[in-house]
Amino acid sequence: MNIAIFASGNGSNAENIANYFKGNPKVNVKLFLTNKNDAYVIERAKKLNIPCVVFSPKELKDSEGVLKILQENEIEFIILAGFLLLVPDFIVDAYPNKIINIHPALLPKFGGKGMYGTNVHNAVIDAKETESGITIHYVNNIYDEGKIIFQAKCNVENDDTAESLAQKIHVLEYECYPKVIESQIQQYINQHK
Ligand code: GAR
Repeated sequence: MNIAIFASGNGSNAENIANYFKGNPKVNVKLFLTNKNDAYVIERAKKLNIPCVVFSPKELKDSEGVLKILQENEIEFIILAGFLLLVPDFIVDAYPNKIINIHPALLPKFGGKGMYGTNVHNAVIDAKETESGITIHYVNNIYDEGKIIFQAKCNVENDDTAESLAQKIHVLEYECYPKVIESQIQQYINQHK
């Protein structure tokens, strides 16, 4: 099962997922893709020896662009890990229930356009929430509204900042995201054999 990971920035989840599946006979992290030519994920891809494709917004929206690259690489599952653009309908349609995203809060709260990374953590703190967490979900055509697969929680303390909360969330993400991806892929394999 070839998977591709989309990331727009740092890419620590992308690296963590690639390390988790290293040597796995069923899951091959074949490709990283990013929409930012200065994203740190590009350095991580080099270190991991995984090809990283940088694409423009136009190439994402063009059916001869990113979709073609995915098809040429025989990508079967797409993982979004800190990817900040909306995936176009025709890519969602080409990968039904095979695109998975992670969101750094407990959806349906604190989701939607513009809600990513620090913006999410600041909103959680401003709302005086006592807990936050992660949501792993399928991707559909609306930001953060696909079917939820998994959630995990952490406490938000009075003295938490966006940075300290982001750290707690990253710990949950590193622990849970690869395992959830693995079980979704296994489920898919079981249903199609
Ligand atoms: C992660 O916390 C991820 O949940 C979040 O961006 C961060 C990327 O970190 N994604 C979103 O906010 C999507 N709406 P990373 O680049 O170090 O993996």
